[in-house]
Amino acid sequence: MSERRVHTDDITLIRPDDWHLHLRDGDALAAVVGASAAQFRRAIVMPNLRPPVTTVALAAAYRERILAALPAGSAFEPLMTLYQTDNTSAQQIRDAKASGIVHAVKLYPAGATTNSDAGVSDIRKARAALESMQREDLPLLVHGEVTDPAVDLFDRERVFIDQVMIPLRRDFPDLRVVFEHITTREAAQYVRDAEPGIGATITAHHLLYNRNAIFSGGLRPHWYCLPVLKRETHRSALVGAATSGNPRFFLGTDSAPHAQRLKEHASACAGCYTALHAIELYATAFELAGAIDRLEGFASVHGPAFYGLLPNTTRVRLRRERWEIPASLPFPGDAIVPLAAGETLEWRLAS
Ligand code: NCD
Ligand code: ZN
Repeated sequence: MSERRVHTDDITLIRPDDWHLHLRDGDALAAVVGASAAQFRRAIVMPNLRPPVTTVALAAAYRERILAALPAGSAFEPLMTLYQTDNTSAQQIRDAKASGIVHAVKLYPAGATTNSDAGVSDIRKARAALESMQREDLPLLVHGEVTDPAVDLFDRERVFIDQVMIPLRRDFPDLRVVFEHITTREAAQYVRDAEPGIGATITAHHLLYNRNAIFSGGLRPHWYCLPVLKRETHRSALVGAATSGNPRFFLGTDSAPHAQRLKEHASACAGCYTALHAIELYATAFELAGAIDRLEGFASVHGPAFYGLLPNTTRVRLRRERWEIPASLPFPGDAIVPLAAGETLEWRLAS
């Protein structure tokens, strides 16, 4: 029997969207937004600024700053989110839905990650806002890790499923929820098997790397993000989920820029910068899994469907071309080191 081997050097995709992105603000925003705009048509923009984006007025002003920072002629569309606190009211949720510019609300358990101190301290304090989101059909985006210092860092997502996610979905069965940047086999299985109304984003780095990447040849802070990279069994389960064709799984880079000096630091900031080469990283992961034909659904179709939006009408082209990821990129007062800096990619987005 002859072996059938499909070898592609050129792929066209419906232009993808990024359903989880950190753009920061001010000079940092200006330094990074062009990279996302070159790859994606739309992005769900995270609200964890300092101070956080907690109201429609703050979201509208932030949206204007993003639009003003875009390269001339860019069609990039920022989809805004609100940062949920213990004080987020039902009225604020109604205002958010009515605004047309806020597409979701982000729940950070207080202290779970970068700039999350103002997050929800106890899910019971969030009931009024959650009821309102359910009624208004405004999706909730969840950073799914418990913050209990007694729980091992590598177990915080798995424990969150039982302690928070399952009770939350039992109490609010019609609330649409995105389990953000999943990193474990347990989360992938939970999302696959749960009642309808759930989705999950998966980053390129969690598809390409396991936790060895953080420690190989020395402590490597550019591979440190939250939720942290996990064991190989988890990475391979995430690849299985992303390439399964199941519309519950979609692209969210979690590209999270930090200045080089804050990454290469005694207490390094969490976050991997992948905006520059996101779709190429995903293409690499899908090709390694023999599933490049499933990339378009994951990157360009499943996300809009979850958010009740149409897929984009334009297309992008990826070509097989070797190129080196730059060692560093401009960033205000410093530099930014992209994920896998200095390594070679086999795919390149045609401009
Ligand atoms: C994010 C950041 O830097 O804002 N960091 C990260 O490691 N992913 C916050 C987050 O999404 O958890
Ligand atoms: Zn994030």
